[in-house]
Amino acid sequence: MEFLGAHLAFRSRWYKMDNDLCKHSMSFILHKAIHTDFFESYLYLLEKYPLVKLYTLTSEVIDGEMQFYARAKNFYQDVPATEEGMMGNFLELSDIDLESSKEFLRRLVGGPGKARTDFALDCGSGIGRVSKNVLLPVFSNIELVDMMEPFLEEAQSYLEEEADRVERLYCYRLQDFSPAIGKYDVIWIQWVAGYLTDKNLLEFLIRCKFGLRDNGIIVLKDNVAREGCMLDILDSSVTRDLHILHSIIEKSGLRILCEEKQEGFPEFCVPVWMIAMQ
Ligand SMILES: C[S@@+](CC[C@H](N)C(=O)[O-])C[C@H]1O[C@@H](n2cnc3c(N)ncnc32)[C@H](O)[C@@H]1O
Repeated sequence: MEFLGAHLAFRSRWYKMDNDLCKHSMSFILHKAIHTDFFESYLYLLEKYPLVKLYTLTSEVIDGEMQFYARAKNFYQDVPATEEGMMGNFLELSDIDLESSKEFLRRLVGGPGKARTDFALDCGSGIGRVSKNVLLPVFSNIELVDMMEPFLEEAQSYLEEEADRVERLYCYRLQDFSPAIGKYDVIWIQWVAGYLTDKNLLEFLIRCKFGLRDNGIIVLKDNVAREGCMLDILDSSVTRDLHILHSIIEKSGLRILCEEKQEGFPEFCVPVWMIAMQ
């Protein structure tokens, strides 16, 4: 109800303009069209309250989008191109994470009506920890995309002889990257979505949707806040709750196929979820 005042204030302004404009003028027709669109969008956003709240967060709390991204880049400049670097010093959780990912993926590929196993894309790949252990054992070819060149350079030796099956390494920020259209059976996005603002994550998911082949799927694996949205100033990332993530996914036009909480992580860790969508 706290929005009602604002809503009515807008409405009264629009009505004033209705009376001022000539009913047969083009301005009036345009004004009417904008009026209708404006209220539809506005009411839609009110319904999607967490998303509205989050736009405020990404534009104000993160102190500007450019700063948000620049800080993350600075952070990763000092991160070693090692498994430990990719795991943020929680290397002991890597095997548990990879085992659960393999099991989750196994249920989604390689059967009638399921995703095929020709081509996968690892987004925010780092040195290719997920590529090496989860994707390469399943897919004939893969590609990696990450914003840090040193990580992609390291990937070429880290992946050892399997590196031959890496078709391309893209050094791009995800907010600037468009997957090739209709190319991928699986697009894997792990521990990187929090480095994107809501708007950029939403737009990236939409571009990923177009990057899928028939029956292709997107897997998002990430930390999930217990409630709301938290900013980590150390690495300049946000952790969203499940409700917010669902809102963004729903808005992208993707449908959630299944989702699962990562088991086996210590209680003190932020919960991690895997979400498969199409
Ligand atoms: C925590 S690491 C995870 C790496 C890998 N997904 C894994 O699970 O081992 C986060 C990775 O996201 C990359 N990254 C962060 N922000 C990014 C952005 N805006 N665009 C592309 N990559 C980004 C970092 O360079 C880093 O490699």
